[in-house]
Amino acid sequence: MAALTDGPWPETPAAFPDAADGTPLSGPVRVSTVPSGGAPPAAPQSASVPELTRADELRAFGEVVASCTKCALAEGRTQVVFGSGNPDADLMFVGEAPGFHEDKQGIPFVGAAGKLLEQLLEGIGLTRQEVYIANVLLCRPPGNRDPMPQEIEACESHLWRQIELIEPRVVATLGNFATKLLSGRPTGITRVHGQEQETTLGGRRVLLYPIYHPAAALYTPRMLDVLNADFARLPELMGREATPPEPVYVAPVAAEPAVQLGLF
Ligand code: URA
Repeated sequence: MAALTDGPWPETPAAFPDAADGTPLSGPVRVSTVPSGGAPPAAPQSASVPELTRADELRAFGEVVASCTKCALAEGRTQVVFGSGNPDADLMFVGEAPGFHEDKQGIPFVGAAGKLLEQLLEGIGLTRQEVYIANVLLCRPPGNRDPMPQEIEACESHLWRQIELIEPRVVATLGNFATKLLSGRPTGITRVHGQEQETTLGGRRVLLYPIYHPAAALYTPRMLDVLNADFARLPELMGREATPPEPVYVAPVAAEPAVQLGLF
């Protein structure tokens, strides 16, 4: 797991203490599509092979994921709910899991929480078509129960890949599950909401920005003020320049003295 040492958040223990069955969640798998050992050799250019756009790659990935059976949620779902929105978005939201309406329609955040998310976006001059919206889990947990650690573990590579393809500048995590998964830390949303954190996700520097889940304001209306205040900072965060990652210092390895065969 990448160490996240910068920023105001407390340190990460080895495992999340709130895992429902005590099983530690695996940390973020921040995969890179570039194999180790440098950039892949340039593919020969041919007029007959058009380059895939980000939208093409995302669509192709969505088609693969549509038949996922990596966890038991596959048995009860109507369909996999892949992320939706602008493939070139600078701002990506990550929620928890599809609910009843999302499971039926196959689109994230189309129920009551989704309507509120759209209103909050409108408040900062954005529409859902301009951002990208995904979830930690792509399948609906029965009765909208909380995601289980083994479900998150099974599903997380789908989220990392979407982040890798979208290359957002800001990733806003909605609620506890997305915040803990993407930060790699157990600190809950109450303590970290509204505090941006520069980190590396999907191989790129992003600003991770935890926000309360919009559903929180459906149950506790005064949460709306907090949500509005946290949303109000998003335009400024999206305009911020990414700081380049710290160069990694690799200590030179002392050359082994050559062994002269036959001397020992
Ligand atoms: N809540 C979520 O976290 N995601 C959805 O898609 C809908 C509601």
